[in-house]
Amino acid sequence: MLKIAPSVLSADFGGLAEAVGEVAAEADWLHIDVMDGHFVPNLTIGPPVVASLRRHTGLFFDCHLMMTDPGAYLEAFRRAGADGCTVHVEVGNTATLLDQAKALGLRAGLAINPETPYEAIDPHLAQADLILCMTVHPGFGGQSFMDEVLPKIARTRQELDRRGLAAELEVDGGIDERTAPLVVGAGARVLVAGSAVFGAERPWEAARRIRLAGEKALPGAPVDL
Ligand code: DX5
Ligand code: ZN
Repeated sequence: MLKIAPSVLSADFGGLAEAVGEVAAEADWLHIDVMDGHFVPNLTIGPPVVASLRRHTGLFFDCHLMMTDPGAYLEAFRRAGADGCTVHVEVGNTATLLDQAKALGLRAGLAINPETPYEAIDPHLAQADLILCMTVHPGFGGQSFMDEVLPKIARTRQELDRRGLAAELEVDGGIDERTAPLVVGAGARVLVAGSAVFGAERPWEAARRIRLAGEKALPGAPVDL
């Protein structure tokens, strides 16, 4: 089974609640991109916006913290209604941050940038509830998918399976109908999509098409003749 996580980064920030309503029927999670203007050169959403959105939907909030100091904010995001928080391995202090997230009752995720080698996350696979492989450089929506990340996704899937670990494997960046089968084929099971969903006339339909495209690449899926 796949999970689709529309990223509100590409939605109209002036009407976020309505935007969520446009995808809710096809969204398993809602992906919320938090950028601090330091870890990445962009500023987006903080805990007050998460708290406001929380009043409009019961969807699982998958918060992606592109922040240099996520530890200082995990509790605020939890209080605001985050269900999961994902920190980047590049900021260091990984074991402590994952522990801190879990102690708060959050689903603890670990993200890795395209240029960071697999080895950086390897020691943390057993501790993380989710691994997020970035398939673009973080910071902005609407970038092109980076094929060169596919081997890292496959390696992560292989190691999770080999060790019998249940962490979810998520991908983020440039996911659409064309790239969904590629990442699912490599082993991803949670697909984040921003511009491909919210750039479409009917966002829920776009999310559905991405899900169907991805499902065709699941092991054991019927082959189109
Ligand atoms: C990028 C964010 C993504 C972004 C993806 O830094 O982490 O979640 O919303 O957008 P698309 O799907 O347009 O690449
Ligand atoms: Zn993201």
